[in-house]
Amino acid sequence: MNAPDKLALANAASSVSATPSREPHVMTTYGRLPIALSHGRGCWVWDTDGKKYLDGLGGIAVNTLGHAHPKLVPALQEQIGRLIHSSNYYLVPLQEQLAAKLCELSGLSNVFFCSTGLEANEAALKIARKFGHDKGVERPEIIVYEKAFHGRSIATLSATGNPKVQAGFGPLVEGFVRVPLNDVAFIESVARTNKNVVAVFLEVIQGEGGINPATVGYLQAIRRICDEQGWLLMLDEVQCGMGRTGKWFAHQWAGIQPDVMPLAKGLGSGVPIGAVVCGPKAARVFGPGNHGTTFGGNPLAMRAGVETLRIMEEEGLLANAASVGAALKADLERELKGVEGFVEVRGQGLMLGIELDRPCGDILNRAAQAGLMLSVTADRVIRLVPPLILSLDEARQIVAILCPVIKQFLAEPR
Ligand SMILES: Cc1ncc(COP(=O)(O)O)c(C=O)c1O
Repeated sequence: MNAPDKLALANAASSVSATPSREPHVMTTYGRLPIALSHGRGCWVWDTDGKKYLDGLGGIAVNTLGHAHPKLVPALQEQIGRLIHSSNYYLVPLQEQLAAKLCELSGLSNVFFCSTGLEANEAALKIARKFGHDKGVERPEIIVYEKAFHGRSIATLSATGNPKVQAGFGPLVEGFVRVPLNDVAFIESVARTNKNVVAVFLEVIQGEGGINPATVGYLQAIRRICDEQGWLLMLDEVQCGMGRTGKWFAHQWAGIQPDVMPLAKGLGSGVPIGAVVCGPKAARVFGPGNHGTTFGGNPLAMRAGVETLRIMEEEGLLANAASVGAALKADLERELKGVEGFVEVRGQGLMLGIELDRPCGDILNRAAQAGLMLSVTADRVIRLVPPLILSLDEARQIVAILCPVIKQFLAEPR
């Protein structure tokens, strides 16, 4: 262990806190656990003290292929040795290769590449506004949802349905109409009364909002309403997409297609990448000069995307996410059934939330101490979004570590 590692450990405390003295030059935007990770392999990571953790978080739904995947690592090394970045002044053949694959998997037609989820969503919002202007709507409005999370830029935090994320950043961007999830009548009433609406924008399964799925019936209804009204259906699959639910994209369970689909997180298995995949109604809205980004679609990120999709197909990771996720959900339900304070397990595939009846942020810390990485969202929901390579045995280990932690937590006086 080198000296900085030892220092980090010596400073380690046992509770979640942002302690500026440990990172005096990093802005204190995150409440971090006092753990520094050193390396990983598969679904396991080790900290600088040599302690081993089972990764139930996957870098927040990012590390699709786990850590140090033996097929991904040499491919990325080869790409780094060849070309990392070139610029969008020139053709980038890997962009077309990845775009073609995403179109094949989604049934859509064109892709814009960027580097993060909020950037993908920002592009989607711009597409919706320009789509509106192009058809003569002077003040286009976009339907967004209670409890939604779309990112932390000014526009995406304005679309987000969480007052905590928005606090202190007003004035927010205008042009959003907020509705409750899974309420068809509500959205039909907006359609009757608001002629400025040009798009509906939602997560198929809300992630940060507490693992709240849109129902199949609701997704089919909003597809129909969007067609009737001439609106764009924009599905934020930044967290729930890329095979996590057992299909390439979560909306495919409802047998529908969006017009605009922002992606990021799992698409590059850890290399920063974002994409906006569009169908014919939206694909020609942007023309040259309407949008762009320096890093978007650079060869390293594109190679990460191409290889991630190839390896996912080769290793049958969609089927794995579906079957291991179903077993994990069933085991959690069985273990926690009847425990006072347990509400329910929600989600699909390897995107699961365990809701408790009380705030449970400390579970993050307790689970880490027990050797399991996870997160807590919406105050009361324990979130599991592990790598899609998770084995059945590893899923059982998650249950074996996590359920005693939850039971102990719920047994303590509030
Ligand atoms: C559904 C959804 N959209 C957008 C984002 C923002 O992505 P990023 O953090 O890459 O900007 C997130 C991040 O958690 C997300 O879950």
